[in-house]
Amino acid sequence: MATVEPGIARHYDISGLEERIIAALADSGADVANLRASDLEAVDEFHIGGVAATKALVGQMGLKPGTMLLDIGSGVGGPARFVANNVGADVTGIDLTQSYVDIAASLSERTGMAGKTRFVQGSALDMPFADASYDAAIILHVGMNLPDKPGLMSEAARVLRPGGVFAVYDVMRLKDGALTYPLPWASDETMSFVATPDDYRSAAVAAGFSVIAERPRGAFAIEFFAAMRERLAAAQAEGSKPPPGVGLVMGEDARTKIANLTAALEGGILAPVELLLRLG
Ligand SMILES: C[S@@+](CC[C@H](N)C(=O)[O-])C[C@H]1O[C@@H](n2cnc3c(N)ncnc32)[C@H](O)[C@@H]1O
Repeated sequence: MATVEPGIARHYDISGLEERIIAALADSGADVANLRASDLEAVDEFHIGGVAATKALVGQMGLKPGTMLLDIGSGVGGPARFVANNVGADVTGIDLTQSYVDIAASLSERTGMAGKTRFVQGSALDMPFADASYDAAIILHVGMNLPDKPGLMSEAARVLRPGGVFAVYDVMRLKDGALTYPLPWASDETMSFVATPDDYRSAAVAAGFSVIAERPRGAFAIEFFAAMRERLAAAQAEGSKPPPGVGLVMGEDARTKIANLTAALEGGILAPVELLLRLG
C-alpha cells in the first residue's frame, strides 16, 4: 500500500457516521425503517453537485441495463446506488476506507439494493479485480487523493473491456495558487494530489484511452455551494435545524472545509472537471 493511504483513510473515517446519517434523516421526516435510495441523496453523494452531478456525468456514458459498472472510490455508495437504480447496472464499488465500505453495504441493505450493488475495500491503484472484468467505470472526486494518475489510468484500463467508457469527475487545478486546508478530501497538503486536466488527459492517453469529452464545471460548483449557504441561512433565520446535507460526511470541520474549497473555486484555482474516456 502506498504510504499516504493509511492517513487518507483516517481523514475520511468518521466515528458513528451511519448512525448520524440515519438520525439526520429521521429528524428531517424520512421513514428510516423503510428507506428508499432517493431518501439518502442529500448525504450519500460525496462530491460537488450531489446527485445532479452524478446524473449529468452518467447520462453521457450510454449505459444499459445489466452493464457491469465499477465505481472507483465509491464512498458511502450514493453514486453506485444511483446508477443501479436509474440504469439497471450491476455495480461494484471499491474504496480505501473500510468504514465507508461497511456503511455503503449497510445503506444498500437498508434500501433493498444489496442485490444490485456490492462494495469491497481496496486501493484504486491496485484493484483486486481480473483484467477486462468491467464494461464501464466511474470515479467521482477521488483522484485528488491519488498521487499517481498514470497508475490510476493503467489500473482502470486493465480492468475495463475494450471499448469501455471511463467517466471521471474530479476536482482539478486550473491555475497556480495556494490552497488552504483542510479541504473535503485532505486534512493537509500531504494528502492532496490535485492535478491539471492536462495531467489526467496525458495519463489517460498513455494508458490506451481516447478522450471523448471534457467539461469544466466551475460555475456549476460555485452555484451549488451558494445554494447550500442559502439553505443554511434560511434554516438559521427560521430557528430550525439545517436540512441533512453532504457536510454530514465531512465531520466536525465541514464548514471550514467547504469555505476553503469555495474560496479556491471562486478564485478560479480549482474546478470540478468531467472527462469522458473510451478504452481503445
Ligand atoms: C470525496 S469522497 C467521494 C466518494 C464517492 N466517489 C462519491 O462521490 O460519493 C473520496 C473517496 O475516495 C476514497 N479514496 C481515497 N483514496 C483512495 C484510493 N487510493 N483508493 C480507493 N479509494 C480511495 C475515500 O475513501 C473516499 O471514499
